[in-house]
Amino acid sequence: MADCRPCEYVMRKILMDCDVGTDDAIAITAALFTEDAEVVAVTAVFGNTFVERTARNALNLVRHLGSSVPVAVGASAPLKDRGNIKPDVSHGESGLGTVTLPDCGGSFHSLNAPAAIYEAAVKASGELEIIATAPLTNIAMAFLLYPELPSMIRGLYIMGGAIDGGNMTRTAEFNTWNDPEAARIAFSSGAPCFMTGLDVTRNTILNEDDARAVRGVGTKAALVVADILDFMFARRDAGGEDAIMHDALAAASALCPGCVEFREYYVDAECEGRYTFGHTFVDTRGRTGNKPNVNVAVASSLPTFKRWLLECIERSARV
Ligand code: RIB
Ligand code: CA
Repeated sequence: MADCRPCEYVMRKILMDCDVGTDDAIAITAALFTEDAEVVAVTAVFGNTFVERTARNALNLVRHLGSSVPVAVGASAPLKDRGNIKPDVSHGESGLGTVTLPDCGGSFHSLNAPAAIYEAAVKASGELEIIATAPLTNIAMAFLLYPELPSMIRGLYIMGGAIDGGNMTRTAEFNTWNDPEAARIAFSSGAPCFMTGLDVTRNTILNEDDARAVRGVGTKAALVVADILDFMFARRDAGGEDAIMHDALAAASALCPGCVEFREYYVDAECEGRYTFGHTFVDTRGRTGNKPNVNVAVASSLPTFKRWLLECIERSARV
C-alpha cells in the first residue's frame, strides 16, 4: 500500500523482549501491525516456559504472521539463580496454551539477546523503544555489558510489578519475582522507564464478544489472537486466570496514545525479603527522599485498549 505519510516521517523502532506466552503473543501480534511503528527485533527469555520454547514460539509466531524480524535467544535463568524458577503453567506446556503454530523451521538471530538489543539500539541511533513483557534478565544483561546502552534507549516499557498486590505471591508480580535483581538494574539504569503493573493490567480483560470481533477480521493474525483468547476463556471457565491482557496493555502503553496514564515515582525491587521477595516498592508517598526514576501506570482505558487492539488486527488485513 503506498505510504501517504510525508517522506520525512520516521517509523518508531520497537524491540520486543518476551517470554512467549499467550499474552506475549497477543502483544507481539498487535505491535507487528500497529500504526507508525516497526518491530525491528524480538528477543526471548525464560519465564512462562523455558527459553528454548519461548524463543521457538516467538520465531514461529512472527514467521507465521509474515514477518522476517530477527528473533534472538536470551537468558535461560535469572541473574541470581536461586534454583526457584518454575514455568507459569497457566500458559500450558508449550507456552501457547492449546494453540499450535506451524513450525517455521527458521533459524534464530546469530547474536544472543543482549547483543541483539545493543545492535538494535545502535541501528536506531538513540530512537529504540523496548517493550519488555517478561523477566528483565535480557535487558539487565544488556545494560551491564554495554554501559552506554541506557542512554541510547528512547523508552523502556515494562510489563511487571505492581503498586499493590501480586500474582506470584501476595506481594510480587510474576516477571519481577522471576528476576528482581534485573528489575532493580532496569529501574536504576537511567533509561526512561514506564512500568505497567498489575494495578492496571488486572482490569484489562477481554470477553467472547471481543474475540468474535477479532476472529471476524479473518486474517492469520486475527485467528491466532482469537484462538489464544478461546484458550484463555476455557482456562477461566476451569477456574484459572481470566483473559487478562497483561502484556498487550504494556505494548499499548507505548503504542496507543491515551491508553495508559503514568505518574513518576521512585521504584525499587525487593531482592531479599522473606515475604516480599520480588515486590516492586513504589514510593507513592515520597517518603524515601529518593528522586523518582520510573513512570508507573496508575490508570488505563479499557475501551481505548480494545479499540487499539482491534485496529491493529484489522490493519493485518491491509498489509
Ligand atoms: O504477571 C503477568 C506476566 O507474567 C505477563 O508477562 C505474563 O506473560 C507472565 O509472563
Ligand atoms: Ca510475558
